[in-house]
Amino acid sequence: MILVAGSANLDFVVSASHIPAPGETVLGEHFQTFPGGKGANQAVACARASGAETHMLLALGRDDFAKPLTDALSQAGVVQHTVWSEQPTGCAFICVSSGGDNAITVAPGANAALRPEHWASHVGALTGVSHLLMQLETPLQTVAFYAKAAREAGVQVVLNAAPAQPLPSDLLTNVDVLVVNEGELFAVVQAKTGQQPLSITLALQALDVPAVVVTLGARGSCAWVNNTLVAQPSFQVDVVDTTGAGDTFCGALTGALSQGIEMAQALRTASAAGALACTQLGAQSSMPTAQTVAQFLEQHRPAQDSAVHSLLAYCSASPSP
Ligand code: RIB
Repeated sequence: MILVAGSANLDFVVSASHIPAPGETVLGEHFQTFPGGKGANQAVACARASGAETHMLLALGRDDFAKPLTDALSQAGVVQHTVWSEQPTGCAFICVSSGGDNAITVAPGANAALRPEHWASHVGALTGVSHLLMQLETPLQTVAFYAKAAREAGVQVVLNAAPAQPLPSDLLTNVDVLVVNEGELFAVVQAKTGQQPLSITLALQALDVPAVVVTLGARGSCAWVNNTLVAQPSFQVDVVDTTGAGDTFCGALTGALSQGIEMAQALRTASAAGALACTQLGAQSSMPTAQTVAQFLEQHRPAQDSAVHSLLAYCSASPSP
């Protein structure tokens, strides 16, 4: 069983030709709301893409924005342990460009009300949890406390360190699998060592965490685990919206790891799920089921050696200034 602890937001999404620069106003196209938030997205992805029993500890406001979020989690089969806050439900304002890129601003609201004491009051009695999956849209102090509580209970801790911020060393000590994008990896390593890493490969090795996974967008993903670098080039799809692709990757990865799947295959499954999540507008709306992921993998051969080599070469090159 997997426990996700983290954020839930209502996403306000506008598609536009491009993401506005500072001071610029862009006339967008249609507007829609979607259930989102990195925590809720990852919980839905985990339940859908792996079929694993998934629970979520989250905080919501007593307002109309909470209902679509709880409905979406329930529909995906996620069992919710909800802290009801006097703060408004979290919201995210998202502009999606015609190329599928996005810019996101989050108003955390109730997510900031998730506190250390809610571990004991809301999930302390849960038994059978193998993995705890968290992100950084809830207070850092809460994330660090939950990681410590999980470690003491023998639960594997998976942390998606997004959005990027320096991590206290007592948090990293209790993490078993760290998942970051390239920018987040460099931010975490620089905060820990005081130095800009010379390459992704060296950055992956600079952290004292049993497994470090870096997602590299359209290039693919890599993991440093058991002193070995594992590389998974990305799958090519027609991109509509990349919102939630990283969350889908994290949820599917954690689901696969909880089923005892080794890292190379777990990366392949997570990459397929993340790619499929880019093919429709919205975060949770496009997350695939385990069956869809399996069919997609059957239709796609394992990556060619040349693609693996070029991904490894990218990881060992110095970052552009
Ligand atoms: O990772 C995508 C998510 O980031 C969105 O759903 C938005 O709510 C923000 O949390």
